[in-house]
Amino acid sequence: MMSSNSLFQRLAKWCPWLLRDEPKKPVKVLVTGAAGQIGYAIVAMIARGLMLGADQPVVLHLLDLPVAANALNGVRMELIDAALPLLRGVVATSDEAEAFKGVNVAIVIGGWPRRDGMERKDLISKNVTIYKSQASALHQHAAPNCKVLVVANPANTNALVLKEFAPAIPAKNITCLTRLDHNRALGQVAEKLNVHVGDVKNAIIWGNHSSTQFPDASHATVSTDRGERPVRELIADEIWLREEFVTDVQQRGAAVIKARKQSSSLSAASAACDHMRDWILGTPKGTWVSMGVYSDGSYGVPEGVFFSFPVTCEKGEWSVVQGLEIDDFARSKMETSATELKEEKSIAYEFL
Ligand SMILES: NC(=O)c1ccc[n+]([C@@H]2O[C@H](COP(=O)([O-])OP(=O)(O)OC[C@H]3O[C@@H](n4cnc5c(N)ncnc54)[C@H](O)[C@@H]3O)[C@@H](O)[C@H]2O)c1
Repeated sequence: MMSSNSLFQRLAKWCPWLLRDEPKKPVKVLVTGAAGQIGYAIVAMIARGLMLGADQPVVLHLLDLPVAANALNGVRMELIDAALPLLRGVVATSDEAEAFKGVNVAIVIGGWPRRDGMERKDLISKNVTIYKSQASALHQHAAPNCKVLVVANPANTNALVLKEFAPAIPAKNITCLTRLDHNRALGQVAEKLNVHVGDVKNAIIWGNHSSTQFPDASHATVSTDRGERPVRELIADEIWLREEFVTDVQQRGAAVIKARKQSSSLSAASAACDHMRDWILGTPKGTWVSMGVYSDGSYGVPEGVFFSFPVTCEKGEWSVVQGLEIDDFARSKMETSATELKEEKSIAYEFL
């Protein structure tokens, strides 16, 4: 008797459309702070497939404060006007429960902004209140395997608050953005060597998304016509790598604000797409990227803080790259950033 499988193969020979893939089910993607600068830049990138793939339909959930409801509605109108074939719906709301309902991916950009003269303690306390409430919406309403990326500052500590108050979501599903810093590091190396940025890989951002972060090019490589070569060997200038490179990456955000009178939006939105795409679709073989993740104690980093590590991703899971050599210089930089994160954590706990 003919098996149902071979019957199907025979039928498909005459009716090739039977072999066509089922259209993918839309993924629900939440963007908070969607009426803001980064929000405005990222929504079209997501709806054009830059985050989840060119064949992945999406439904966008957009959340912003009631005061921004008109602006948010304008964003919704523009998305409709852009006639984006992958976009299967837009929910624009200021209600957290409605925004988080059933979402598979959450890009968390909205938060209390840092104003001139504001103490770090004040910024953390304001955001703790916001993130405690959003954690509760995430816990109650999001899909149980929802993947979360926190962009809003202080990003590592906001991610920690989400993790603490959304126990329904596995800690491994909550991350924060240091990919912009990672991309900036690749960009600085490419400029210095006058090579294409696509040929540079495996820079690392260690630590907090703040000025204590440690941009590390000591394991980075460049593809050349003589094969893959270490950046350290090509640049051959330890002082540049330890000083100018580190400071330039740490201060790049401030330099953009000085030039544009506004903080990085296009590059932040693009980095958030890179972060999610690599997490969900996987990192290319032999390449790692930087992600802020809940520390498991790798490299002697304290557990219980969100720390940026080099990671590889496969089948929707990230893992910290192990076994990289850490010299005394790198160790002391990583400790400085870990100390800052522990301080941020204890400030946050004062307000929880
Ligand atoms: N991690 C990174 O690499 C990185 C890079 C750039 C900016 N950032 C941070 O991203 C955040 C957003 O930057 P931006 O330039 O888009 O700011 P923005 O001020 O233009 O937009 C922020 C938006 O968030 C909204 N918002 C505030 N509180 C909210 C809440 N409780 N719920 C929902 N929405 C809320 C505001 O109304 C506003 O529309 C800032 O915290 C900024 O510091 C992080």
